[in-house]
Order: sequence, then structure tokens, then C-alpha cells
Amino acid sequence: MSVLRCPGCGAELDADSTAYACACGELLDVEHDAAELSRVNFEKGSGVWRFRALVDPAAREVVSLAEGDTPLLYSEPLARFAGLDDLSFKHEGRNPTGSFKDRGMTVAVSRAKLAGAKLLACASTGNTAASLAAYAAAAELPCVVLAPEKATALGKLSQAIAHGARTVLLRGDFDAGMKLVRAAADEGRVTLLNSANPWRIEGQKTIVFEILRERGWDPPDWIVFPAGNLGNCAAFGKALHEARDAGLIDRLPRLAAVQAAGAAPFAAAFERGFDELRPVQAETMATAIRIGAPVSYARAVRSIRATNGVVLAVDDEAIAAAKRAVDTAGLGAEPASCASLAGAARLVTDGTIERGASAVCVLTGHLLKDADANLAVHAENAPIAVTGADELSAMLSS
Ligand code: F0G
Repeated sequence: MSVLRCPGCGAELDADSTAYACACGELLDVEHDAAELSRVNFEKGSGVWRFRALVDPAAREVVSLAEGDTPLLYSEPLARFAGLDDLSFKHEGRNPTGSFKDRGMTVAVSRAKLAGAKLLACASTGNTAASLAAYAAAAELPCVVLAPEKATALGKLSQAIAHGARTVLLRGDFDAGMKLVRAAADEGRVTLLNSANPWRIEGQKTIVFEILRERGWDPPDWIVFPAGNLGNCAAFGKALHEARDAGLIDRLPRLAAVQAAGAAPFAAAFERGFDELRPVQAETMATAIRIGAPVSYARAVRSIRATNGVVLAVDDEAIAAAKRAVDTAGLGAEPASCASLAGAARLVTDGTIERGASAVCVLTGHLLKDADANLAVHAENAPIAVTGADELSAMLSS
């Protein structure tokens, strides 16, 4: 049997509880029965639910849109960009709604539906909103999503609208939206589907399980990923810990969490030895990670410490350069995703990652999520208008 456990005071709650935080204030974790971990069979099922035993062994009547099973891609030009021979990309943009959020959403929306939730809700920089909208629609449940009016990519916002979410444009940032939606959840008006919800973390662990399985359970030396609200950082550390406890791997990769310089409270705390989280007013072109007060800070700290990991910040220029490389290599990804490659390149330059090391970068969202960013980053490749054959042949011979 799985339970919900408070990592702060140790309190235990029934897994069927819809609480996401303990009375003491800490976010709850899902804790699985150790016996379940030893009974894993990953050759049955597919995607996220291939790992049911490590995610939600009691799951039934699952709300799924066939999430997970994303490719691990190798790219010669991107290996050169980072200065690494063994670098691959886990492309989470290949999920049903175009981001990794779908992995957590299939688990958390299935749980919410079973628990009889009436109204699902999230605050979002865009991708969570798009994903929740799709899974709520599939579950035939209503949902409300809150997204910053000024800094949400249109691709994401239009997805939420298309899937029928009640879409609220916030005259404020993500952090303000997070406070509003948590207050509504604490009053019992909505069920929270942000990554504060422990079942979201369970689903997102499968990014790591897939990387390990695709590599024949031979862990890479590094896993590098963009970090905003820190749900993935929390999930990746938990996944590695459990994979080791289940005897699937015998050593842990080091985690590298990459923030945008204008939204880097986690990187700043890392530099200070994780003394405390000091929230910031966030600003970056990578709007997905434009977050100043990450909710999963405490559990992300545990992940970094347990894996001898690092946290760093890269500026918008470095993110744009990495995006230019990712896009022109044919993979393509939204700006926040490309912070992973920018971070890997920086860690190779400063000697933290050795050139002979193996690394996996996680690309978190699809290229088409943020069309404005594509036009801005690739301005030198703006389309040319022609009116007839003469102009076209002049262009082709220039
Ligand atoms: N990359 C993308 C494309 C994202 O959308 C997010 C988060 C992250 C990285 C950061 O992941 O929060 O687990 O550290 N997007 C959230 C949202 C906040 O609302 O869509 P994290």
C-alpha cells in the first residue's frame, strides 16, 4: 500500500486523501511499499503506465492520452555545441500536449477523478494549463487555469482554451497565481493540479525511469534539465533514489538544474549552501521558467544533495544561442527547454562535466509552444516575400 508522508514531521496520510500539504506546512510525498518495488515488470504496458508499480500501484480507471515513451535523441552538432561525445536529448515535447507535464497529469488527474474531485485547478506559465485542460477534458471534469496575462506563450494559452478550460488571465505573475490557487484549494473550492500535488511528482519520475531503461539501466553520469517551480528536480531525485532501492541501478547520476539568470532563486540558494530560499521578482524570455518563488524548493534541495548535484543560472543570451542550436539541428524546442543545453555547455566549459562524461539533457517542451520566440530567436532567417517567377529566381541565385 502507498501512503502520503510528510518529509518534515513524518506524519502519514491515507493515499486516498486529496491533501497536498501537511498540517505542518511541508508538501507531502507519495511513499510506496518496498515490496511493490521488488515486483516491477517494465515489459508490460507502455509510457508512464509501464512504471505503474513505481508510480501508483493501486491505479485503476486511468485517464490517459498515451503520454511518455518519448525518444532519446543523439545529435552530432549538439554534442559539438556542448563539447561532449556522449550527449543525448530526452525530448518531452513529444508528449500528447507537447510537454512533460502530461506525465504527471495522467497520474494526478486519475487520482483526482477517483477521489471525486469536482473542479480541477492550476496556476501556470502555460504548459501545465495546456496539459490540465486536456486531461480534465478527457476525464470529463471541469477545470480552471490561471496564467500570467503578459508572459504566457500563445501556443499554450490557445491549447487551454481549445480544450475547454475556464482560462483566467492574471494581472500578475506565476507566483501570484500560485498563491491564489493554493488559497482556493485550502478553502476546499478546487483540487490543486500543480506539481505541489504529490501524484504529479510520481508521474514525472518516469522521465528518469525511461532514460535509465533506454540505456539498459546503465545510468548516465549527468542529467541536465531546466528548473522553474522545481517539480522535476524533486521528481528526478526521488526516481533515482527509488531506482537504486529497487536494485535497478547501482550508482546515481548527478543532477544539474539550470535556471534562467533572471529567475534563479534556486541557483542563488545553492551558492549560499542552501541556507534558505529568497524569492525574486522573475524576468526571462524563457517564460515557462519565469518563476521567483518555487514551490518544491525543499524537496528539490534534497534531490541535489542526494545526487551530489549542481544548480546554475544561464542568461537569456545563452538560452537563445542554445535554442538556435537545438532548432537548427532539427530537434527544436521552446526556450526554457534549451536552458538544459546552455547549462550543459557551461558545465563542460568550467570543467564540472568532463568531456568524456555521458550526459542526458531534458528538452521539456515543443518548438511550436512559443511561435513568437521562434521568430525572435531566428530573426536573421526571416521569410522573404516574392510576387512572381523573376523575384523567385533572383532569390534562388543569390
Ligand atoms: N520547462 C518547461 C517547458 C516548463 O513548462 C516548465 C514549467 C519547466 C521547464 C520547469 O519545470 O517547474 O518542474 O521546475 N512549467 C510550469 C507550468 C511552471 O506552469 O507550465 P519545473
